Amino acid sequence: MSESPIGKVCVLLAIISVLILTIFSCGRKMLLCRCETCQAYLTSSWSKSFDNLCDWYAHLLRNSPTKTIDIHVLGNTITANPDNVEYILKTRFHNFPKGKTFSSILGDFLGRGIFNVDGESWTFQKKMASFELTKTSIRSFAFQVVNFEIQHRLLPLLLLSKQNHAVLDLQDVFKRFSFDTICRFSFGLDPICLELSLPMSDFATSFDLASKLSAERAMSVSPFIWKMKRFLNVGSEKKLREAVNMINILAKEVIRQRKKMGFSSRKDLLSRFMTSVNDETYLKDIIISFLLAGRDTVASALTSLFWLLAKHPEVESAILVEAERVMGSDNNEASFEKIQELHYLQAAAYESMRLYPPIQLDSKFCVEDDVLCDGTCVKKGNRVTYHPYAMGRLEEIWGSDCLEFRPERWLKDGVFCPESPFKYPVFQAGMRVCLGKDMALLELKCVTLSLLRRFHIELVAAGPHHRNPRFSPGLTATFSCGLPVKVSPRGTQ
Ligand code: HEM
Repeated sequence: MSESPIGKVCVLLAIISVLILTIFSCGRKMLLCRCETCQAYLTSSWSKSFDNLCDWYAHLLRNSPTKTIDIHVLGNTITANPDNVEYILKTRFHNFPKGKTFSSILGDFLGRGIFNVDGESWTFQKKMASFELTKTSIRSFAFQVVNFEIQHRLLPLLLLSKQNHAVLDLQDVFKRFSFDTICRFSFGLDPICLELSLPMSDFATSFDLASKLSAERAMSVSPFIWKMKRFLNVGSEKKLREAVNMINILAKEVIRQRKKMGFSSRKDLLSRFMTSVNDETYLKDIIISFLLAGRDTVASALTSLFWLLAKHPEVESAILVEAERVMGSDNNEASFEKIQELHYLQAAAYESMRLYPPIQLDSKFCVEDDVLCDGTCVKKGNRVTYHPYAMGRLEEIWGSDCLEFRPERWLKDGVFCPESPFKYPVFQAGMRVCLGKDMALLELKCVTLSLLRRFHIELVAAGPHHRNPRFSPGLTATFSCGLPVKVSPRGTQ
């Protein structure tokens, strides 16, 4: 901040005007809307009846005749209606971009990375990444990277924890696993995070913090509040700035190392981008978005899958029976082709993400006034959110047993049958569908198979999440108490 008297007066005037705008903006909305839902949001009274905000939204959406609700104080229309989802993500894609508000919320963290841009910049990154990610050669590269991490790091770590009878936080282990994997896959560099003797790298810790604090910005009733804190560099905004600075330094170091090692003949994504992008800040933004895309989502999907498997031994047994039928009884590394034959395992992975999608909700902004398929009017500049977490809990989509974990619902005569992506937008759908879905599923299936065939994994009762997970605020779903488990060799319990 400026030290000169004129500078100080200017800063003071700016603070006063921001304060007035904040009070005016929040106050106006609050005065305008005294509806029960908005009051429950503003006072957090929903938390008396629900463990998580997503559970409250799921409840409101279930009870809405159109499966769409409005949180007026947030200017946010939230929908769980598959027709609306198709309309937003495909039919009227150009009227529902991420928009400037979203870009500004995540701008400090993600810059111009693919997750945070529309238009030309998005088209360029999308083209480049999808060209690389759909090549057949990338499959064997991904398979090689994932198996290396499982054989050389994950399995030895679980063996060690078994010998020490230690309690292991499986969520932490999966975060480290997916961080190593996405770094080696995307950048050709190995941060060796999955060594519990080493502290979580500064990169990973700063990443968690930046994701949490950016998500909190999005939940704020008015952007003026976080913008003012950012201007003054105080509180959560000061922490966010420090985390982002650390991430930027480390991402630039990744680029420097990659340049030093040479990139023209490499298979990883960063090397491909480096052949056509010279701007270092842009490259850094691209790196950060790919890390976010591939790290937290996979770790989140693995955490809830193992939580559900520990609570459903019948599903665990069915996975093992299928594995033995397809691959025989030896525990050697399965081939890529054999993994594709495991339909029940694939169904279990989909079913787990139906109930616990790693990205619970996703917002777009409305460019011009529009009317959704169920008749809901959306005003220009308002936010529109589709809610995969609530959609996974709708009887209208999944039937009366929608709250049950039942992989069989995805199988027809033993063969996996996918649902419409607009009913199951866990990987989004339409134009901006996830580019790493195959990679993610490969990771989920390889890890599950390797661990279940060797170990019995038992939940250690810790905190209320033993009954029902509680999530921390963040861009991806994270169990707030981790996933404490004990492992023993299979067959010895
Ligand atoms: C279980 C794991 C995963 C889930 C549930 C998931 C889900 C999603 C979702 C919901 C989006 C849309 C986000 C948005 O637009 O705001 C997305 C986009 C994306 N994902 Fe994934 N993802 C997963 C893993 C991965 C992996 C491993 C990679 C990379 C190898 C990846 C790469 C991407 C990219 C590049 C985009 C941006 C697409 C675009 O904007 O056009 N994802 N993913």
